[in-house]
Amino acid sequence: GHVVVLAGGLSHEREVSLRSGRRVTDALRSLDVPVELRDADAALLDSLARDTPDVVFPVLHGAAGEDGSVRGVLELLGIPYVGARPDACRVAWDKPTAKAVVRRAGLNTPASIALPRETFHDLGAASVMDRILGHLGLPLFVKPTRGGSALGTSVVREAADLPAAMVACFGYGDAALIERHIEGTEVAVSVVERDGEPHALPAVEIVTPNGRYDYTARYDSGDTEFVTPARLAPEAAARATEAAVTAHRALGLRDLSRTDLIVSPSGEVHFLEVNVAPGMTETSLLPRAIAAADLNLADVCRDLLLQRRT
Ligand code: DAL
Ligand code: MG
Repeated sequence: GHVVVLAGGLSHEREVSLRSGRRVTDALRSLDVPVELRDADAALLDSLARDTPDVVFPVLHGAAGEDGSVRGVLELLGIPYVGARPDACRVAWDKPTAKAVVRRAGLNTPASIALPRETFHDLGAASVMDRILGHLGLPLFVKPTRGGSALGTSVVREAADLPAAMVACFGYGDAALIERHIEGTEVAVSVVERDGEPHALPAVEIVTPNGRYDYTARYDSGDTEFVTPARLAPEAAARATEAAVTAHRALGLRDLSRTDLIVSPSGEVHFLEVNVAPGMTETSLLPRAIAAADLNLADVCRDLLLQRRT
């Protein structure tokens, strides 16, 4: 039997996913796991039905990978896979829905408004922008309600910058999440399950020269600094860890996830979003957290596969 790492696909994060997929594939090969990297393209259904793997490791970012649809195909074919089930993915992938779920579970998350693109046509862009500013004030963070790798996101510090931020956002999706921008330390807490129990890895702090952890800062810049464990007061670090485990549980996730948080100077922890297919590239956060925990990426990936193999 063999393992298939699924990567690529047709999302905006295709290149990132291929980099993640190659890293996971190489890691598993280093342990002599029989593994093959397969592109999640239109031929996928046929190829999975013809040459059925023992277990699949989806390292597929963006819509089909994180909204549960590809995992639904795996369910249909009866192929075990690492990670959250389709119904949980659907909830986690839609940021406003995920925020509502974690808020009910007791976490803080920045005040926000989610608006479909049509609202701007129907009510008039100027009037909608006035209402956003009236409700949320400044600064704001604008992002597509569904998306990843910071594509289509902007910080808005002045009212005059809001229209351009909305246009940038709608280039990547049909709905915008406009959040109060919380100033503070940006950290990511990864969760890996062992024997069905979620364990948080050390928080990774992100420091960028201009304060913006955008696509370039994520994958193409040597200037981003990652501090592990994050420089947080012990109580704030404990709250961040607990928040990631709470989000993982409240959203019904499985095997692995990464929760992105802002810790304000007063130590308050704010949930931004959770990733069901966290980046696994050379510069990504989950592999850094694994290293900081004195674990090995290859071992963690193999253990996740073994947990799923029936
Ligand atoms: N969406 C990217 C891959 C991440 O969350 O790491
Ligand atoms: Mg994300």
